[in-house]
Amino acid sequence: MVKALFQALLACLSVQSMLAASEYACTRTKVAVLGAGVAGITAAQALSNNSVSDFVIIEYNAEIGGRCRWMKFGNDSEANQYTVELGDNWVQGTGTEDGPENPIWTLAKKYNLIGTYSDFSSVQTYGENGQVDYLAKADDFEEAYAYVEQDAGIILSENLQDRSFRAGLNLAGYKPTLDPEASAWEWFSFDFEFAQTPDVSSQEFAVVNNNASLYGFSEDNYFVHEPRGFNTFIRGEASTFLTPSDPRLLLSTIVTNISYTPEGVTITNDDGSCISADYAICTFSVGVLQSDLVTFDPPLPQWKRIAIETFQMAIYTKIFFQFPPDRIFWNSSYQYLLYASPQRGYYPIFQPLDLPDFLPGSGIFFATVVTDQSRRIEAQSDERTKSEILAVLRQMFGDENVPDPIDFMYPRWGQTPWARGSYSNWPPGLTLEGHQNLRANVDRLWFAGEATSQQYFGYLQGGYLEGKGTGERVATLVNGGLGEGDTRVEGEVQGDEARYEVLKGTTTIEEYGPFNGWYVSSFQEGEDEEEGGF
Ligand SMILES: Cc1cc2nc3c(=O)[nH]c(=O)nc-3n(C[C@H](O)[C@H](O)[C@H](O)COP(=O)(O)OP(=O)(O)OC[C@H]3O[C@@H](n4cnc5c(N)ncnc54)[C@H](O)[C@@H]3O)c2cc1C
Ligand SMILES: *[C@@H]1O[C@H](CO)[C@@H](O)[C@H](O)[C@H]1NC(C)=O
Ligand SMILES: *[C@@H]1O[C@H](CO)[C@@H](O)[C@H](O)[C@H]1NC(C)=O
Ligand SMILES: *[C@@H]1O[C@H](CO)[C@@H](O)[C@H](O)[C@H]1NC(C)=O
Ligand SMILES: *[C@@H]1O[C@H](CO)[C@@H](O)[C@H](O)[C@H]1NC(C)=O
Ligand SMILES: *[C@@H]1O[C@H](CO)[C@@H](O)[C@H](O)[C@H]1NC(C)=O
Repeated sequence: MVKALFQALLACLSVQSMLAASEYACTRTKVAVLGAGVAGITAAQALSNNSVSDFVIIEYNAEIGGRCRWMKFGNDSEANQYTVELGDNWVQGTGTEDGPENPIWTLAKKYNLIGTYSDFSSVQTYGENGQVDYLAKADDFEEAYAYVEQDAGIILSENLQDRSFRAGLNLAGYKPTLDPEASAWEWFSFDFEFAQTPDVSSQEFAVVNNNASLYGFSEDNYFVHEPRGFNTFIRGEASTFLTPSDPRLLLSTIVTNISYTPEGVTITNDDGSCISADYAICTFSVGVLQSDLVTFDPPLPQWKRIAIETFQMAIYTKIFFQFPPDRIFWNSSYQYLLYASPQRGYYPIFQPLDLPDFLPGSGIFFATVVTDQSRRIEAQSDERTKSEILAVLRQMFGDENVPDPIDFMYPRWGQTPWARGSYSNWPPGLTLEGHQNLRANVDRLWFAGEATSQQYFGYLQGGYLEGKGTGERVATLVNGGLGEGDTRVEGEVQGDEARYEVLKGTTTIEEYGPFNGWYVSSFQEGEDEEEGGF
């Protein structure tokens, strides 16, 4: 109320708004956590766990969860609608009995999130003339991947120059470019995961990323279709340390300016309010950091800007349809329908949700496209996208079998001002040190989120672990040094994160250690992780 009144006043008295803003006394706190996605909430929980209760969390949206976001969908009364996930959908890599567990899996179990394991071999293949069996082409990619994976291990351990994943595939003798069916498999195996092409992805770190989650935790992918939404786990964890109307949680508050010094950080919001903190933890996505939506004062140093502008923000778009439930045209034995278009990436994958183990009876079905196609469809009307996809489906299933949908929707992640894309991806040639600069603090301004994770970038577990680590780190600083509960690795630098003002050459094996954000091995087994090596 008071805020609304204040905003109204500012709007009326625009001439005096400058004066009002400058006279507005900043709220004081020890730590300002910027963003209430999984990283921000986990960072605040870590502060709380380490006896720092004087913090505020500032969030653009009216609710917490960030890119973990769902909505009700379906052409029916609200009670009969279905929850669909606009952002993340899978717990990727769960855990084995005696191995480490994905922290997101631990929380998915804690909150009993309903889901179904994805079966990536449950695929039916199609082309422009309908169903056609090219399942065997999956093996060619698998074979090439086995080579590229080992090769990436050599690049890492022998300090060789990185290259694009495309170059890695080519070197493995895999060249599907002129074959739409092989390209469809390649898209399904690579782009579907990284949301960008092999051409613009790092060979070394795509493999690191895959190894860390799939070999480090498990190869299971748990597809969440929880009626309360995937972000139930984030809301649940938040409620362990925040009260329902906790004054430390500032929702619907848009940060526009972050001013930092060695003594503290001042955050200015678009409603004119401000917060002055001893430390801040910024969890905004790389897409937001690359945009001009938030200004830094002074401008971020060049080494930091290079890291931000070099890391990539990919887009992953799910396009939801609801068909009349009595006119289902797909075979409910399959989880994935692959479509080979001569134009690589043009509606290559469909996932029916009206399946026995998912949302039976819902009539819901979704397509996925990534970055380049995402940008294209974000720039056109819903109607246009809908008719493009219906044309594809009618090629696949026959004109007469595909009815008009009764509902349709897709999010435009690239245009969303608080996300500016879906998740990050590692470009070819960026070294570990180059990425460490993305993680590194600048004075008392710290950075955490999905993208600052060297091994889990793009995943919820990346956001979780980076939020936890940074929260603990900042708690240590607030508490005046190394505290008793400090769980950080022994021998690790205290105070500032490592940073590299000048980046040269490549990364020697000794440099793969916690001081560069490298916490676990990306190799399968058998090596000593304590030493800070890979
Ligand atoms: C379509 C899609 C599919 C995905 N699929 C998966 C998957 O299957 N499995 C998986 O593990 N991960 C997946 N991910 C990635 C996962 O969602 C992210 O890694 C994770 O949610 C990121 O959390 P975060 O806290 O780092 O960032 P965010 O969730 O982006 O949190 C940052 C917060 O900062 C806020 N913010 C931004 N700008 C401002 C501002 N100016 N002022 C105030 N607040 C601001 C935002 O509103 C947001 O709440 C997917 C993501 C998308 C979008
Ligand atoms: C905080 O402590 C609680 C209770 O021990 C634990 O469940 C949670 O995982 C901790 N959170 C972090 C981020 O360490
Ligand atoms: C990934 O794991 C495979 C199998 O364990 C291994 O051969 C390879 O070296 C690993 N690559 C990296 C970059 O860790
Ligand atoms: C950002 O905030 C600082 C300190 O409050 C102020 O000096 C600076 O002018 C602001 N910059 C912008 C672009 O608002
Ligand atoms: C669906 O697929 C299964 C498994 O391949 C097959 O046995 C069944 O006949 C198919 N059903 C229809 C209606 O085509
Ligand atoms: C909902 O369904 C009705 C009847 O099938 C249809 O007329 C209407 O256009 C649908 N609404 C949307 C948003 O598609």
